[in-house]
Amino acid sequence: MRLTAIGKRVIIKDTMIMKTPPIASIIIGAVIFLGHSSHHAADLGDLSPLTSWNKVARGVWRAEIGNLENEIRYSDLAAAPPRLNALNALSDAAFPFSSKTISFHLDSSEKVMVRIPTDEDETLYGFGLQLDGIKHSRKVMTLNVDHWSKGGGRTHAPVPFYISSKGYGVFFNTARFLKIYNQVGNRKDSLRNPPEVDRNPPSDEPQPGPWLAQPPGDAVEAQVNSPGLELIVFSGNSILEVVQRYNLFHGGGALPPLWGLGFWHRVHATFNADQVKEELEDFEERNFPIDVVGLEPGWMTKSYPCTFEWQKKRFPDPATFTRELLDKGIRLNLWENPYISKSSRLYESMYPLSGSHLVWLGLVPDYTLPQARRLLTDQHHEDHISIGVSGYKIDEVDGYDFWLWPDHATFPSGVSGEAMRQSYGLLMQNMLYTDLFKKRNVRTYGLVRAGNGAASGYPFVIYSDAYNHREYLTGISTSSLCGILWTPEARSARSDREWLNRMQTVCFSAMAQLNAWSSGKKPWSYEKVTNAVRDVIQLRMRLLPYLYTAFADYHFRGIPPVRAMILEDGFAGGNETVIEGKLDSEMNPYAMDRRVEKTDQYMFGPSILVAPFYENQATRREVQLPHGNWYHFYSGNFAGNGETISVTAAELGDRIPLFVKDGAVIPMLSDSVNQVKRAIGHSLEVRWYGTEPGIGDLYEDDGQTFKYEEGASRRRQFKVSKANDGQLNLEETVTNQNQKAMFGELERFVVMTK
Ligand code: GAL
Repeated sequence: MRLTAIGKRVIIKDTMIMKTPPIASIIIGAVIFLGHSSHHAADLGDLSPLTSWNKVARGVWRAEIGNLENEIRYSDLAAAPPRLNALNALSDAAFPFSSKTISFHLDSSEKVMVRIPTDEDETLYGFGLQLDGIKHSRKVMTLNVDHWSKGGGRTHAPVPFYISSKGYGVFFNTARFLKIYNQVGNRKDSLRNPPEVDRNPPSDEPQPGPWLAQPPGDAVEAQVNSPGLELIVFSGNSILEVVQRYNLFHGGGALPPLWGLGFWHRVHATFNADQVKEELEDFEERNFPIDVVGLEPGWMTKSYPCTFEWQKKRFPDPATFTRELLDKGIRLNLWENPYISKSSRLYESMYPLSGSHLVWLGLVPDYTLPQARRLLTDQHHEDHISIGVSGYKIDEVDGYDFWLWPDHATFPSGVSGEAMRQSYGLLMQNMLYTDLFKKRNVRTYGLVRAGNGAASGYPFVIYSDAYNHREYLTGISTSSLCGILWTPEARSARSDREWLNRMQTVCFSAMAQLNAWSSGKKPWSYEKVTNAVRDVIQLRMRLLPYLYTAFADYHFRGIPPVRAMILEDGFAGGNETVIEGKLDSEMNPYAMDRRVEKTDQYMFGPSILVAPFYENQATRREVQLPHGNWYHFYSGNFAGNGETISVTAAELGDRIPLFVKDGAVIPMLSDSVNQVKRAIGHSLEVRWYGTEPGIGDLYEDDGQTFKYEEGASRRRQFKVSKANDGQLNLEETVTNQNQKAMFGELERFVVMTK
């Protein structure tokens, strides 16, 4: 079979990939914003000012440089079009570059350099799921999808989006490798360079000091090898609003099915059907919650490369196996990587639709082609979905050059090897979500090992082969700044304490997963902490109403359900300690400072601050409370206000440190359940913390289809108020009362304040 040559652009257009609406169709109000014309020529040097800004929603502007005709833009791969109503409902914020001009240089050799001015006191956050820090001022970064260990910007989801402490964000909307110089480098024609300082003045001359090893640059300069580049600028009255706008512009956040928020257990890669069933019986006997079983590579006839076909020696009757699990309320998630084995029945038809190079000797299908998408999704439907499989874990889409195809690989659609590497994880999510699940009005929740820009609407959570607990915590914060969900999954541990700490962290993340693909561990594998592990899983189950509502806020309002402290009011500036560098001719010849960031605590839903124990803070740690009154989750006791406190595992009875905002009203189940399906219709407890009146929201829908898109959802509000005589009142109101409730009646109102 031969493919006829088709122009690149045509193929992309023909696919199921949703294109971002053309600018003209979503421009609102008075259209063109022309930037600022009175820039200082000297400041721009040989650069051209970027003036073609279009306001496309309140607080969102986009501009194009050069020729974008054959470029893949991440926004073309978003799960849904911009949520304009929600975007426009946010506060109006001004265009951040009216007095400082963004400029660019377009090279004849197809290179674009763009320069975005920054102030000296401006801090930059973001650039995707980085595991080594949240703050990226004064750094050079290479934003390539890559293996986690490479660092320098290369990661599972190197989203080219940064957020400034000044309340705006910039998105480089391109599936290209990107090199970024964040406030590094000084242009000779800049008017804002710091003054020169003599590092070694004679002693009888004035000592101006301090000399700076890295004179701060006054811009972000980014470069792509491309004939064109689109920039999107988001404004906001807070960093949170900037993030909300970024998410809403890409269709809002993902809304998983309710079952996705229960407990996930991935069994050993070689398990067969009977072993899975035995393991599930163990969960029941030991009274441990479980909702999803993940099968690892051994479920397939062949893997690495893959067939996507059931290994009948292990799973002789997949349909009955899946049905039996579903009858018990257990969902099945299947591991796969996208690379196709010669033993797969798809191999021959996929051969002409795949790239020039193999990965693990398997074909790399070009999923920008409708034909390739159809082949895979038809097979997946027939073999998996039609018998009740609920979702996938898409592995190995993040490897670097060594594992995946080279930059010069070619694909039949004409999409470059580079763009394919940057977007393959995103393409897989787009295809499975759109063509397999959404088409059938069924929600899914799954995993993927790479993502990128505009991904917020996809119900896929990123995981890693990395395993440093501190880095895993940092990932919770950084993922929340770029529309990515992340799980700090537990796999194994060197001690009971480590196991408990990891299980506690993962239960307060977007996906509570034990991945025992190699370790074979169970939640009860570390005997001494079995009860404490069960407790935290059960607490997550009790918090389902609260967590599901947090995801609804992600979907409808763009607020990340699990998020960095810098998105929290009253936490300003609290995330870095500078350790002054000492001059040392061997170890530190430029006397460079060292910066230690505080990324080991985060927010879970609207009002709970999580500060897990980890590594050398295994049983005692410090917690930095934002301004405002904060209370202990378990006791309701006052914890502090804008201060750093210390907590110990002993004082908390080996529970994870959780703190709650003043006035928080938390809807939760009145007691724990071992399966999400038992949460449906289950009675509620509503807790109130602190002294301020407050409102607790509860979102409800059918938990499994997309009918909420047509309005089939409702909200309950629990409002706590105080009468003049000090009498407390709890009032429940419901909007959209004619829709079905998801959770049961209020059984208990608990005033937590002592
Ligand atoms: C790894 C993946 C693990 C597990 C394993 C199975 O690449 O990160 O979670 O799925 O493959 O071979």
